[in-house]
Amino acid sequence: MNIFITKNIPEAGLLLLQEKGFNLTVNPTENVLSREEFIKICQENDALLNVGSSNLDEAFFEQCPNLKGIALFSVGYDSVHIPSANSRKIPVGNTPEVLNRATSDTAFLLMQSVARKSFYNHKRIINGEWGTFNALANLGQELYGKTLGIFGLGRIGFEMAQKCKAAFGMNIIYHNRSHNENAEKELDAQYVDFETLLAQSDVLSVHSNYTEENNELFNKETFAKMKPNAIFINTARGKFHNEDDLYYALTNDIIWGAGLDVTNPEPMKQDNPLLSLPNCCVLPHIGSATYEARNGMAVCAAQNIIALSENRKMPFCVNEEVYS
Ligand code: DGY
Repeated sequence: MNIFITKNIPEAGLLLLQEKGFNLTVNPTENVLSREEFIKICQENDALLNVGSSNLDEAFFEQCPNLKGIALFSVGYDSVHIPSANSRKIPVGNTPEVLNRATSDTAFLLMQSVARKSFYNHKRIINGEWGTFNALANLGQELYGKTLGIFGLGRIGFEMAQKCKAAFGMNIIYHNRSHNENAEKELDAQYVDFETLLAQSDVLSVHSNYTEENNELFNKETFAKMKPNAIFINTARGKFHNEDDLYYALTNDIIWGAGLDVTNPEPMKQDNPLLSLPNCCVLPHIGSATYEARNGMAVCAAQNIIALSENRKMPFCVNEEVYS
């Protein structure tokens, strides 16, 4: 089988693929392909192992009729137009579970960083602004006993809630399409409607899969319904929030702070005004960037490709309907 790997992945996955004797084309990380170049290589391959954010839309599928399967190097699959894959019976695999810890750790890290204005204070030192002790300056907030609201309580959201409960005894509320019985039992999490999530969360953390219906769900109107002490955390997808509205909310005391691992667009521009705010911490989409998670992702992606080559169901398939 001929496989195109869009960017280098950890050896743990590459070795599994090499052992199977596949013909691998690995695009060197530095080499950013144009859409035309990308499609041309996909046309010459049986399977795609996609690392990063290529837009696998209807036009892509139309132009790559020989493609038999796609293994994503991500848990999110918003880069793929699933109906287009389904209509051609192309299985799409992702990398669930293995990045739950790393991504929820990142959400937790951002929450604490915002609560204690840590990025801003780091910048103050660099700028020679440490100054003398000031009992009234740079005060943060403690999170003990506060309410964590999770938007999309799946596997990553569960781990974030677990950490917040263990560390700070936080109360957990959540809004999902369906109830998460495990979280209700294990974490005493309470299902609430979206309006209540906005109104009651001291920290609101987004962990949902992105879909177009949730595009910029967090905007001027919804930020206005949040508490003035609220911290907004997004480690899911940048398209969940409107960046101008977030800036407005942060600079007009509508909400207290924000921590983002995802932005829209990515990369965020160097002169984005959010980067200069004392109450905003931004990371460059490093949620899953640990050795452990990335090795796990490489193995999952390789297992999906291997299953495809053996005419088996991908073990981590997001569109199982293609097998029916
Ligand atoms: C994921 O796995 O979806 C991460 O956001 C990396 O894209």
